[in-house]
Amino acid sequence: MALLFLSTPERAEVWQPIFAEAGEELIVGEAAVSDPAAVTHILCWKPPDDLARYPNLRGVISSGAGVDQMPPMPDGVALVRTLAPGIEEMVRDWVVMATLMLHRDMPRYLQQQGLGQWSAHPVPLARGTRVAIMGVGRIGQLVARTLGDMGFALSGWSRSGRAVEGMTIFGADDLGAFLAQADILVCLLPLTAQTRGLLNADLFGKLPAGARLVHAGRGAHLDMQALKSALDRGQLTSAMLDVTNPEPLPADHWAWGDPRVCITPHVAASTDHAEGARHALEVIRADRNNMDLPGRVDPRKGY
Ligand code: GLV
Repeated sequence: MALLFLSTPERAEVWQPIFAEAGEELIVGEAAVSDPAAVTHILCWKPPDDLARYPNLRGVISSGAGVDQMPPMPDGVALVRTLAPGIEEMVRDWVVMATLMLHRDMPRYLQQQGLGQWSAHPVPLARGTRVAIMGVGRIGQLVARTLGDMGFALSGWSRSGRAVEGMTIFGADDLGAFLAQADILVCLLPLTAQTRGLLNADLFGKLPAGARLVHAGRGAHLDMQALKSALDRGQLTSAMLDVTNPEPLPADHWAWGDPRVCITPHVAASTDHAEGARHALEVIRADRNNMDLPGRVDPRKGY
């Protein structure tokens, strides 16, 4: 088996010794492929157009946690997302920061700072403040653990509705009830046909007046104009966005200058190079032993 590596030179530098030590073959760049039939796996963010060039391809591994940028895979080719504890921890850190920033009114205080204005507002307790997390997979559960330790009251919305310790879980059909009890709504959903455009006027209208939004899913979940209207109506108080629609957000977009919105440019997480390499080795080994591939995407679910 050989993995064709289509990512950055900096990442390749870390992967090469890890693969060499593991005795696995790593081919860096398509130009280095002498026999396309030798390639069994590809690591990339987006694959090359002509996957048919690799007749023995068994798996395509996304270099990140997301796979919505990937085209449908040819028959017999597994799609895998990178599972790396670092990604999950980084997103957790960003979401906890964002939740606390909104909870403690930072957008308002940042605006006041710009105006040189010393003006105090009521200080809320974390204890009992309701944080509602859309998407309670590995990352959502990690976020919930930290916020739960701080006293926030946690709920989750998931497709399966499966129970998660320490959270009240709402199933797919209970979206309205889930939203009605969200003081702070956190979106960690994968982007699929079902979730595209989900953060829209209809959804914002079901939140309690004055709710806050933390978005670390995908830009295409969010209707930015609906966000603006919800802020203008007071339906939402503030929002913290790591992903925007579109990306990058044009310099003249209203959201940049809106003091109720804080934006980071899709930097909540990035895959640690060594962790990515170790995950790819696990995928190759599992494939060789006909075991379940860690991070394999279910094409019916899209994540
Ligand atoms: C980043 O958004 C990723 O998918 O890893």
